Amino acid sequence: MNNILITGGAGYIGSHIVEQLIKAKKKVFVVDNLSTGYKRLIHKKANFFLCDIRNFKRLNIIVKQNKIHSIIHLAACLSVGESEKKPKKYFSNNVIGTRNVINCCKKNDIKNLIFSSTCAVYKDKIKFVKENSKLEPKSVYGKTKLKGENIIKKNLFKNKTNYAILRYFNVAGASESGKIGQISIGDQLFKNLSICSKKMNPNINVYGSDYKTKDGTCVRDYIHVSDIAKIHIMVLKKINNENKNIILNCGYGNGVSVLDAIYEFQKQLGKKIKVKVKDRRKGDMEEIIANNKKIKRFLKWRPKKNILSKIVKSCIKWEKKI
Ligand SMILES: NC(=O)c1ccc[n+]([C@@H]2O[C@H](COP(=O)([O-])OP(=O)(O)OC[C@H]3O[C@@H](n4cnc5c(N)ncnc54)[C@H](O)[C@@H]3O)[C@@H](O)[C@H]2O)c1
Repeated sequence: MNNILITGGAGYIGSHIVEQLIKAKKKVFVVDNLSTGYKRLIHKKANFFLCDIRNFKRLNIIVKQNKIHSIIHLAACLSVGESEKKPKKYFSNNVIGTRNVINCCKKNDIKNLIFSSTCAVYKDKIKFVKENSKLEPKSVYGKTKLKGENIIKKNLFKNKTNYAILRYFNVAGASESGKIGQISIGDQLFKNLSICSKKMNPNINVYGSDYKTKDGTCVRDYIHVSDIAKIHIMVLKKINNENKNIILNCGYGNGVSVLDAIYEFQKQLGKKIKVKVKDRRKGDMEEIIANNKKIKRFLKWRPKKNILSKIVKSCIKWEKKI
């Protein structure tokens, strides 16, 4: 189980998985079109291919020529806001791209596939979602990820490839190595709050303060990127050894509101962050928290960094470095 391909391995989460795989002595191949990824995030020991996953022919050659054993598929566009404005871009990248990856699995008898899905596939306002909770994505982004899940289930259920669909909740933080972390700036709250560390009079936009949550702002379940990366290493080993297909929520089960996050950053930065309340954003969920009993049971998983202050500290440390 040595040759592993990571699509999106030059991105934020992908680069952390690559780092841990290389530490585990795997031979790692990265496919990325660098649309939101960075060459500097790719580990020196990884073999990098500048390639778009929508280019099936090239992707298939890379998989074949490098005798890929397992694929971890992360390449995607992931901004909820942008997906509402550019649905075609999201369909092409996330659905057609995923279909190509699955066809590569089928053509090359790939042993294992891990797909990075999201909590955005669930119906809003259930709060503690289980893997079998109702699926009803609110955003175009969530819809494209659910389509990806369905393509995998339909094509790989009785196929040679074992698959794991990992529904990440909100990922934040940076590697302890200090070498990698989040660079690209989008609509992610923790990244935007981290940037406040560099400003004299920082402010932050809060989209909606009239949700039916504890303080009126949206609630999410933040998971440290090192814990997410480790889950991939554990899941790969498990599905490979036991020939299993599995769907898992990857979250801590802790609800953190936008204001909770702002207060924690303020406390650690020792400065005030001015809140600018804006209209609700289309596609945003009100409250989503993981029920993580299944992953704890399946992997005997014990999160290492499930304290908000630890995640925030790690974000600030990385932001100061770049
Ligand atoms: N960050 C989160 O909180 C979060 C939460 C849930 C799910 N996810 C999922 O995790 C995955 C990785 O997210 P991330 O936060 O690391 O984002 P990211 O933007 O840093 O990483 C995505 C990577 O994929 C590459 N890419 C995009 N389209 C491509 C294509 N067509 N061909 C080749 N490469 C392509 C980008 O260049 C980038 O390096 C995504 O699939 C995302 O949907 C992320």
